Amino acid sequence: MAVIFSGIQPSGTITIGNYIGAMQQFVELQNENDCYFCVVNQHAITVPQDPVQLRKNIRSLAALYLACGIDPEKSTLFVQSEVPAHGQLGWIMQCIAYVGELERMTQYKDKSKGRDAVSAALLTYPPLMAADILLYNTEIVPVGDDQKQHIELTRDLAERFNNRYREVFTIPEIRMPKVGARIMSLTEPTKKMSKSDPNPKSMISLLDDPKTIEKKIKSAVTDSEGIVKFDKENKPGISNLLTIYSSFSGKTVEELEAQYEGQGYGVFKADVAQAVVEGLRPIQERYEELLSSPELDEILDKGAEKANYAAMKQLRKVENAMGLSRKRR
Ligand code: TYM
Repeated sequence: MAVIFSGIQPSGTITIGNYIGAMQQFVELQNENDCYFCVVNQHAITVPQDPVQLRKNIRSLAALYLACGIDPEKSTLFVQSEVPAHGQLGWIMQCIAYVGELERMTQYKDKSKGRDAVSAALLTYPPLMAADILLYNTEIVPVGDDQKQHIELTRDLAERFNNRYREVFTIPEIRMPKVGARIMSLTEPTKKMSKSDPNPKSMISLLDDPKTIEKKIKSAVTDSEGIVKFDKENKPGISNLLTIYSSFSGKTVEELEAQYEGQGYGVFKADVAQAVVEGLRPIQERYEELLSSPELDEILDKGAEKANYAAMKQLRKVENAMGLSRKRR
């Protein structure tokens, strides 16, 4: 039994990339472990958000966590800003981090490129993420491939703190899915599928209706070779569709390659779409029920209470170790 923590930003529509890279792992892990799953709304405000939309997105993401299979009896599901210790430890981790290492984060470089008004928090986002993880003595962080650098930094910051003060933090390990750690855009398959992509055709939302899913997959960029084969370098579009299909069907990529030998992309794409539609159908049904039920808020209230208890205990230890607290507690 290990402690698990992970988070998703309520910054747009949740994609099948988030589902395959992160949520499927969460559901699998919750049976054997002590899991904390978070709606990281404080991370979302590092870029401007419309308040009405953000409020909607927070509840929507919480409902999606549950609809995808997070069981509140097994996992603690909560909203980041309802546990103030995240912001408090986030500040402390900023004091441990160096500007140089934050400037080297590729996500910071990508998100700040070409913008003239970049919030300071876009730079100091990884120390907040480190705080999220370190508050719970997390041992394993299930994420997609794009978060690897942030987890490595978290480990560095935890070690730096432990060496400078005393052994307070557990050093977390990353966990990525074997297949689907990086789902690519449908329109530009050399780019990651992202919920903040302005082109809705590039991604499939967990809430897209069947017709939209069929259309998006049908128009997904592939190649003109006409062979269904996994080859990331030369066939990024087909390889991405194979990965998506494999994640939704449970069949291996090799099995799928054999199944579609000698068949064109038309049949293949129609079947990928079918698998995604069928996979998302029960999630969408549960989502609708949850969103309009008082149960959702009760689960989040309870989750915040449990997370607050664990997080405050850890924050006290940190403040004690640093001499921040007026009296030793
Ligand atoms: P976010 O909200 O961008 O993404 C949530 C999770 O989905 C994964 N993911 C993907 N996996 C595969 N293919 C993709 N195209 C894809 N896009 C996203 C991400 O890797 C992530 O696991 N900084 C984090 C949120 C966060 C967090 C944390 C995560 C804040 N604090 C502490 C873990 C632990 C983020 O922006 O994720």
